[in-house]
Amino acid sequence: MKSVSSAPGKVILFGEHFIVYGGKAVLCSINKRITVYSELTKDVKIEISSDLGSISIPVNKDIKSVYSVFRPIVFLAQKILRQFKSDSGVRITITSEIPAGIGLGSSSACCVAAASSILGLFSNPSKQEILDLAIDAERTIFKNTSGADSHVCTYGGIMEYSKNGIKKLDLKPSFKLVIANSKLTHTTAEVVAKVRRFKEKETDTFSVLCENESTLIEEALDSLKKDDVISLGQKMLVNQTHLQKIGVSNETLDSMLDLVKDASYGAKITGAGDGGCIIALVDNKNMDKALNILRSKYECFAANIDTVGVDNER
Ligand code: PMV
Repeated sequence: MKSVSSAPGKVILFGEHFIVYGGKAVLCSINKRITVYSELTKDVKIEISSDLGSISIPVNKDIKSVYSVFRPIVFLAQKILRQFKSDSGVRITITSEIPAGIGLGSSSACCVAAASSILGLFSNPSKQEILDLAIDAERTIFKNTSGADSHVCTYGGIMEYSKNGIKKLDLKPSFKLVIANSKLTHTTAEVVAKVRRFKEKETDTFSVLCENESTLIEEALDSLKKDDVISLGQKMLVNQTHLQKIGVSNETLDSMLDLVKDASYGAKITGAGDGGCIIALVDNKNMDKALNILRSKYECFAANIDTVGVDNER
């Protein structure tokens, strides 16, 4: 028996970085998915393969000695096999429509899809069970994860995230996004540290920006509720000015944003910045125009908002 599950990637629509200092952020899942296939095997091994490589290890290998990008998936396989007292091995195959390492939630989506797929070999898990396991798995590589990405990948849709928790917004937006990859590598932790240095040096400026960002997010939530793509785009442009001021944009990202300015309702970086991706807000009227302009220079694709979250095709 094969168990197949998929989970969506995500973007941050508003609030990255400011959320670290107590603000809100708005995230949404996108219809680009990671799919995980699992099957039990007689060979008592955990075998994992994807575009990133492959691994084959004994089921009981100590997780601390697993030095691999697949460590969270090994963790999931071990934990679930133990939970269901299985003496089988498991073969896991991962396919992805989401480029890795560019802030689109590929590692969370992978953990969520894998938790669902492997659990699906034994039971019919709830989304909450899948989420809890996926967050534990992510913690094997990123101890302090907030769990926000996994939450969005599990439940899908648009979510408001704050220190008080995560709230799924009951919205059916008509907008789409064009996502373009700068191909500049970045490390979230380093960019977060850079912002911290800015905050320490420019305390007053930073605190005004935090206040402005909070007001902006309330307005953006209002635009989202009204499905008002024009005002939402304007809010994205303002959010980008805040991100520029805290120093997480750069020449490449600025020129990408400039390129798509007239072909979209608004655009900004998404996630940590200093590399990674930009998102441009579009609808059916201007999506091709935005794609064509960006495609002349950058890898890009269009995405809809996913409302499904994790999906098991049992
Ligand atoms: O690039 P991502 O998807 O890892 O997003 C980082 C978001 C930050 O606000 C910059 C950091 C955080 O922990 O919230």
